[in-house]
Amino acid sequence: MKVGILKETSLHERRVAAVPETVAKMVKAGTEVIVESGAGKNSFIEDKEFEAAGARIMGDGKALLQEANIVLKVNRPSMDEINSMNEGTVFVGFLNPFSSADIIRQLAGRKVTAFAMEMVPRITRAQRMDALSTMSTVAGYKAVLMAANACGRFFPMLTTAVGTVPPAKVIVIGVGVAGLQAIATARRLGAVVTAFDTRPAAGEQAKSLGADFVAMDVAHDQAEDTGGYAKEQSEAFYKQEQELVRKHSKESDIIITTALIPGKRAPLLITEEMVREMKPGSVIVDLAVEQGGNCALSEAGKEVVLYGITILGVLNLPSSLPVHASSLYAKNILAFLNLIVPDGKSLKLEMTDEIIKGSMVTHNGEITHPALNK
Ligand code: NAI
Repeated sequence: MKVGILKETSLHERRVAAVPETVAKMVKAGTEVIVESGAGKNSFIEDKEFEAAGARIMGDGKALLQEANIVLKVNRPSMDEINSMNEGTVFVGFLNPFSSADIIRQLAGRKVTAFAMEMVPRITRAQRMDALSTMSTVAGYKAVLMAANACGRFFPMLTTAVGTVPPAKVIVIGVGVAGLQAIATARRLGAVVTAFDTRPAAGEQAKSLGADFVAMDVAHDQAEDTGGYAKEQSEAFYKQEQELVRKHSKESDIIITTALIPGKRAPLLITEEMVREMKPGSVIVDLAVEQGGNCALSEAGKEVVLYGITILGVLNLPSSLPVHASSLYAKNILAFLNLIVPDGKSLKLEMTDEIIKGSMVTHNGEITHPALNK
């Protein structure tokens, strides 16, 4: 079994799908590992470190694709990469399948068996493979650092000879994986944090990290589905929530928004009017910008400054922390590899397995995932 690790080609992508530690484990299990030269460079991993872990380095990505049985990447493959893969090659990486119809069709056309890491179900057995969660942890942390950097004030309370500086007031909207890490990071920096979530269950977690939690009037079964994900609420509800947030946003210095309903547009929770009422110099970081944004004024990949408020519509934050983002992602990938190549030497696809079924998007020339065949 030959596993190939490709260099990322997307602009600004600094992560890599394997690190020497995970390569050594694959090699120990009897897997042959090939790494494209320079794949780890932007995560500060030299070719020679991969070599020392037992990998073979190849200069030509195309030749690697023709040799590898399993190809690992962070981002989806390019059309050229897919065209260089053999029939029956297995691809594992983030595929962004709902906005990559052409890529998915091409993978199926080339008879590649493709797994989308973002579709690994969030179940207990799959926790070690949950790359979305590990990346959201990175994003939640980094979002607070970016906010702190853009905000012209201290986070902690400071007592000085000329008086006391009060702590910054931070609001976190959406207490999922990214939100919890944002709360923890803001608290570590000394801020006073208020958190909002529609799921009453999020309250205990927010409070355990030292945040105040603003509960909303939603019954548990109306707030979340059986998988623990938030359910979409009515427009009237979102209007009420905006009013609730507004009471706090006028006084806040930083707002981090992470509210997400899987498969839907992100709920709009901060209107232009609310932004206008905030204190000049305040900062909003909208992590949900890729799903349309929680703030009406955020723009994907841009810094917008309006009414004296800086609104950061940040994309791909994990790439800005490549050392740990790569190391965590590589561990998620290794856990997934252990599922599909349990003995390190041969592919074993248990088609009834919930994780395999949930994350496989193409196989044997077909688009296999029901959500993509609608
Ligand atoms: P998650 O599903 O764990 O958390 C989302 C939270 O939002 C849930 O707790 C949910 O109950 C809550 N929520 C939903 N509707 C709400 C509402 N109306 N009011 C308050 N809370 C509400 O998702 P995760 O993994 O934490 O990701 C959060 C967001 O961050 C997503 O939009 C994700 O795409 C984004 N993200 C962005 C990155 C970047 O670099 N820009 C990187 C990683 C994640």
